[in-house]
Amino acid sequence: MSTASSESVAADPYFQELFADRIGGNKYGKDTEIYKFEKIKRAKRKALADHPDRKLLDFGIGENDSMADSAVREVMRQEIDKTENRGYADNGVGEYKEAAARFMQRNFGVELDPASQINHCIGSKPAYAMLPAVFINPGDVTLMTVPGYPVAGTHTRYYGGDVFKLPLLPENGFLPDLDAVPDDIYRRAKLLVINYPNSPTGRTAPPEFFEKVVRLAKEKQFVVVHDAAHILLTFDGPPRSFLQTPGAMDVGIEVHSMSKGYDMIGWRMGFVAGHPRIVSAFADVKDNSDSGQFIATQKAAAAALDDDSIPQRIREKYRRRMEKLVAVLKDCGFECEMPGGTYFLYTKAPTGTESGETFAKAEDATRHLIEQFGIVTVPWDDAGSYLRFSVTYVAETEADEDALMQETKRRLSDAALVF
Ligand SMILES: Cc1ncc(COP(=O)(O)O)c(C=O)c1O
Repeated sequence: MSTASSESVAADPYFQELFADRIGGNKYGKDTEIYKFEKIKRAKRKALADHPDRKLLDFGIGENDSMADSAVREVMRQEIDKTENRGYADNGVGEYKEAAARFMQRNFGVELDPASQINHCIGSKPAYAMLPAVFINPGDVTLMTVPGYPVAGTHTRYYGGDVFKLPLLPENGFLPDLDAVPDDIYRRAKLLVINYPNSPTGRTAPPEFFEKVVRLAKEKQFVVVHDAAHILLTFDGPPRSFLQTPGAMDVGIEVHSMSKGYDMIGWRMGFVAGHPRIVSAFADVKDNSDSGQFIATQKAAAAALDDDSIPQRIREKYRRRMEKLVAVLKDCGFECEMPGGTYFLYTKAPTGTESGETFAKAEDATRHLIEQFGIVTVPWDDAGSYLRFSVTYVAETEADEDALMQETKRRLSDAALVF
């Protein structure tokens, strides 16, 4: 009897049948598939348990390692005490939109009306969760690059739409082959999501690619969403906004983030900019989803946007670290070059080791490097087998960086990888 009752406790709750199909329906919570980042966590735990004295060299973290600039934190400290900042921010305060307009003008020569062409978001991730609500009906298609940031695709499916994947391959310079999209897909496509500098491949897009996107958007009648999260971490020239492209403002929007370029990951601030009708539709959906970011945070973020020396400093730090990493990896047999942008290096995964180990997938290489050598990377097996090294590791000084690089080189040499 007691066994039966404990079994019934362990049995499904009545609401198991109530979960929506979009999260797995009555199978929700029973999925035994282990996701990539959970596998990495487990491998890290094993590495630490097996080798408690060996420091992990963690190139797996995709978050800035520094706090926001002290001047920005000082503005926050002051704004937090002001009564007028206490309430709902709804679709945002003028100060932030105006600073965003100045930022776009100064950095890219893009003129935007702050009132109608800019809206804040609580970090850019929620913007990708909301934009499908603006355009996607059941059966509509979002064109998404893979590998990539999947949130807009997940929400497209939530609304009954489909995702058409555009692989990013080295033979196309990690640009999607838009000529390969079948016409029946273009007929159903409402959104194209692109991201340059691209995460994780680190490539930037030439102006001709953006021009082609604008041309195709008009011809095939879809809306372009450009994810500019990493735009201020551009190394191969001045950062380029999609909105600089002639005609871009007629076909879409660009989504900016304060996270990467301003060391403000946890602050949750970004903005959507572009065609006023799309910005207003986004603002309507957002207004029905959240009540805006804390006004003190918006004002501190406005101060950050007005200070170009902050992203310059952050860019130079990650450029320096990236140059060191590229040199070390090349010495250890990796085929890689300086990425055009982002703090990610995306490089072909080794296929095995000189001692006879073989890796069928990047995921196997990642596990081997973590468990045997304490080197953490993130595997990408979506379009070829690649490892992603992030230069956001924690190192206080340049000497610490150099020591970490030396240790990386030593361990990778011991790993005797083959490609
Ligand atoms: C390509 C890309 N887009 C968007 C985001 C979301 O950034 P946030 O929500 O912090 O603005 C990230 C974060 O990792 C990203 O890598």
